[in-house]
Amino acid sequence: MDEIKFELESVEKTKEIKKKTRKKRKKLHAFNSLTPKEWTQLSRSVWPAKEVSSQRKWYHKEHGATFSEALAERAIKMYSNAGDLILDPFVGVGATLLAARNLQRRGIGIELYEKFVNITKNLLFQETLFNGTDQELIHGDCRNLLEWVEPNSVQLMFTSPPYANFIKQSLEDRRKTHKKSRLVIDNNSVVKEYGESKLDFGNLTYDVFLSEIKSLMKNLLIATKPGVYNVWVIKDCRNCKNGIPFIDFHSDIGRLGREVGFLYHDLIVWAQNDQRRLVLLGYPSVFYVNINHTFLVILRKKKEKK
Ligand SMILES: C[S@@+](CC[C@H](N)C(=O)[O-])C[C@H]1O[C@@H](n2cnc3c(N)ncnc32)[C@H](O)[C@@H]1O
Repeated sequence: MDEIKFELESVEKTKEIKKKTRKKRKKLHAFNSLTPKEWTQLSRSVWPAKEVSSQRKWYHKEHGATFSEALAERAIKMYSNAGDLILDPFVGVGATLLAARNLQRRGIGIELYEKFVNITKNLLFQETLFNGTDQELIHGDCRNLLEWVEPNSVQLMFTSPPYANFIKQSLEDRRKTHKKSRLVIDNNSVVKEYGESKLDFGNLTYDVFLSEIKSLMKNLLIATKPGVYNVWVIKDCRNCKNGIPFIDFHSDIGRLGREVGFLYHDLIVWAQNDQRRLVLLGYPSVFYVNINHTFLVILRKKKEKK
């Protein structure tokens, strides 16, 4: 009799353990559906260019300051799940929306200039393979993003903003000073101004730009779900002409993020040595390095307290 009782008890115990393990397993299900192996593989802090580059097409040249779909795809895999909403407030010619669509995420992209909106629209409609997910493209000023994006709805914000008026300044500088230098002839640059609009963040001086980015971040904080991520793709710059050898742009973005209430969560280096030719800088009097990397500044909205 005792034996039977013991057996019954141990069957009950096993059932209980199995139930607990099932519950635990359920808890272990990653928010982005990655397996532990995939999670580990994606957790490198340095991303070599060859791992995140895609073929350059005509519309990348047409725009002049794009990132690859592969770069956006990698971040989207890390920070979201199928069906989630991805936002890019400076969507350009649509790399983030195309990547979101490829990975069955929903997307909202905002772009100021009609010429870029039209390119992205065509690209999105050309391929119908994943038209089950929906991508919304807005022609407008991202300062007004809360008109189109619900509070607490965005799983991942992924973007590269204009770099204040640095592009404008460096193009002027190249036109005037470096007409015949390797900087112009040899470095393969396709960079150009986006346009003349006063609403364009690329037409603002750095101080004004930072204060406008801060206001934008306040809206992004509202739009983002608690506990999830905003990723800013940022390259540091120089403005030697005006006596500023190094502009610590990515640190300013991290600082502004913290000031509006995000956590500065992580920093990733996109290593671009293989993509860029070296140019002679400052020779023979001042030694500068070629800035051949871009940062991904990862901000996280705090979780709500229960
Ligand atoms: C660095 S580019 C982004 C390129 C994009 N990641 C891509 O791969 O195509 C920045 C974009 O922001 C746009 N832009 C500038 N000011 C804006 C504003 N106020 N609202 C929305 N878009 C704006 C520019 O026209 C430009 O296309």
